[in-house]
Amino acid sequence: MANQSASYLLVALCLLVLVAKHAEARPPRLVPAVFVFGDSTVDVGNNNFLGGTRKEGKANFPQYGVDFPTSMPTGRFSNGFNTADQLAQLLGFPMSPPAYLSLSRPLKLHQLSKGVNFASGGSGLGKHTGRLIAGEVIPMSLQLEYFATVVEHISKSAGSRRTASFLSKSIFFISTGSNDMFEYSFSRSDDSMFLLGLVASYKHHLKSLYRLGARKFSIISIPPLGCTPSQRLRRLEQMGTQGCFDPLNDLSLRSYPMLAAMVEELAHELPGMAYSLGNAYKMVSFVFANPQTKDWHFTELVVACCGEGPFGASGCNQTVPLCPNRNDHLFWDGNHPTQAVSAIAAQTLFVGNGTFVNPMNVLQLVQL
Ligand SMILES: *[C@@H]1O[C@H](CO)[C@@H](O)[C@H](O)[C@H]1NC(C)=O
Ligand SMILES: *[C@@H]1O[C@H](CO)[C@@H](O)[C@H](O)[C@H]1NC(C)=O
Repeated sequence: MANQSASYLLVALCLLVLVAKHAEARPPRLVPAVFVFGDSTVDVGNNNFLGGTRKEGKANFPQYGVDFPTSMPTGRFSNGFNTADQLAQLLGFPMSPPAYLSLSRPLKLHQLSKGVNFASGGSGLGKHTGRLIAGEVIPMSLQLEYFATVVEHISKSAGSRRTASFLSKSIFFISTGSNDMFEYSFSRSDDSMFLLGLVASYKHHLKSLYRLGARKFSIISIPPLGCTPSQRLRRLEQMGTQGCFDPLNDLSLRSYPMLAAMVEELAHELPGMAYSLGNAYKMVSFVFANPQTKDWHFTELVVACCGEGPFGASGCNQTVPLCPNRNDHLFWDGNHPTQAVSAIAAQTLFVGNGTFVNPMNVLQLVQL
């Protein structure tokens, strides 16, 4: 009898510990909602719902998602969680808000109350970006139209004042521009004109978001695109040499100060706008230069985990080889980072110093 009570007590204690551990694992939500815009780096399944998207714009088949909690493909261009998921986790959510196109119709308020993800793999700032390579995608302008629909829906139930307050405290996370740059690199003409156009388009979309109620922006700049496995292969094929495809890296490097100046100017122009700009070029370069630290341990910086042929750049699907330890690899497929790299990006956006995020990190942005 005494023994039995003792074991009940033990079970109860274990449960308590489990509950406590669970509670500890999920910090309280720091913001009411997160709204996500952009490309494949942050898409959580919108493209799954597009009939006209080619295989290049899809990630809803194995071996995508092999390290996701369900071990199933979800439409994320990753082995597991992407940067949007991991930033949302740091903000106290289980993962990214749901993909807009996955929501049941008619829209219900409770589906929108923690935010929505509008991102679409292959898309960019330009209206036609992605069409050639990925087929049907959701360009930024349409992502914003969808967001306007969501705002209208929330306003109808909650009233415009409460909606404005809700939106002003929420985080608007944006990761875009890479596909515009990537496509431009195939038909280069005037680099300065291209970059000016890109930044002007970015500004236009940020203003639209502001007009709809967005105030706190977390923006991640364009990474060194030339160092992906697919672009290393491009260099090998074009020039017969090893290394990153420099023309793309040069464009990316040049775009950062222009983007930074534009966002800074905009924040002066628009009352109440605040932002955190992450320098993806510097973040990725830092990991390349420091592949092993106390926080991470990468041994493969060049070859994709899921893929075959030179640099594993063939593309990921069910029949190509998969590396056993994804945490060793910088690249998941020919164009996308592993979950382990996205975790570093999210962590750096959230609490990184001025080397990587300016003029403040996302935690400081939240606390304004
Ligand atoms: C997987 O990709 C490889 C390399 O591109 C290709 O040869 C193969 O046909 C693909 N398999 C499927 C099932 O799509
Ligand atoms: C910023 O963080 C990086 C990475 O943790 C570190 O190497 C660097 O020294 C820091 N810079 C400053 C100015 O604190």
